[in-house]
Amino acid sequence: MDTRVTQLAELDLRAWSAERLDRVEQALSTWVAPDAPAGLGDAMRYAVLDGGKRLRPLLVLAAAEAVGGNRQAALRAACAVELIHAYSLVHDDMPCMDNDVLRRGKPTVHVQYGEARALLAGDALQALAFELLTPDDGSVPEAMQAVLCRLLARAAGSAGMAGGQAIDLASVGVKLNEAQLREMHRLKTGALLQGSVLMGASCGALTAAEREALSVYGAAIGLAFQVVDDILDVTADSATLGKTAGKDAEQDKPTYVSILGLERSHVYAQELLAQALAALDASGLVDTRALRSLADMVVNRVN
Ligand code: IPE
Ligand code: IPE
Ligand code: MG
Ligand code: MG
Ligand code: MG
Repeated sequence: MDTRVTQLAELDLRAWSAERLDRVEQALSTWVAPDAPAGLGDAMRYAVLDGGKRLRPLLVLAAAEAVGGNRQAALRAACAVELIHAYSLVHDDMPCMDNDVLRRGKPTVHVQYGEARALLAGDALQALAFELLTPDDGSVPEAMQAVLCRLLARAAGSAGMAGGQAIDLASVGVKLNEAQLREMHRLKTGALLQGSVLMGASCGALTAAEREALSVYGAAIGLAFQVVDDILDVTADSATLGKTAGKDAEQDKPTYVSILGLERSHVYAQELLAQALAALDASGLVDTRALRSLADMVVNRVN
């Protein structure tokens, strides 16, 4: 009898991602309305297509694959999360918020199309996300649709991204302590990343312990993501980032760098990565290679 321990081959993240990104790009291009009236479709497509790392869709798909989830549901969830993210960026860049002119290497949506259309493009992208989660063709069971909608609504709303953005705006020039900063980051960025993982997982069947492990993983990489965003705002240049570097200090935003300093922020990001990987190790899931590689990418990225 062959007694060798079966080991999974190392994952080539680049190849794994390329195939999934292709599917996501095609689906987004099909689903983001080119025919919306009065130029709204142009602004929506400009905001979403041809840009961004697509980290949230990849997390959805990786989590769904880890639990053997429904592929059609996972693709819809992946696109829905990206639409919410893209909408949050459109509004985040507007003059009433961060007042940014560069995003994903292009002029921001309000610079390109005006503020009113940028506002509406964000609104319409948010609505489209929930439409994508609720197909009426029988491809996604209705109970699963409801779970996905609830997870996305929680992650995007006042208990998640929008709430965190409110704290962010209220904190300009304010010296937050570390616990307050962590809470702001957990909401404004962490919630949607953790939500991506949980939505992917909800496309399949999983035990309570597996769900809890993925939830801990998602929380850790979600927070790590914004810690690294704060670091890159200081250490990277605008060309690499595709958005204006150095904005946080200029706008007097509390960030991990402003509160812990660069060195301790790096250390904290690595600690969060270790927490995320430990959660996967303890999860009992058989193949977590893509989730592990994505966690590594979150923390060790250059843009
Ligand atoms: C930027 O997110 C905004 C934050 C939540 C920090 P990403 O760095 O994922 O932006 P894209 O999608 O790659 O443009
Ligand atoms: C934004 O955080 C988080 C969102 C919910 C969009 P930032 O304001 O730091 O994001 P960037 O740096 O402009 O991408
Ligand atoms: Mg902001
Ligand atoms: Mg911003
Ligand atoms: Mg930032």
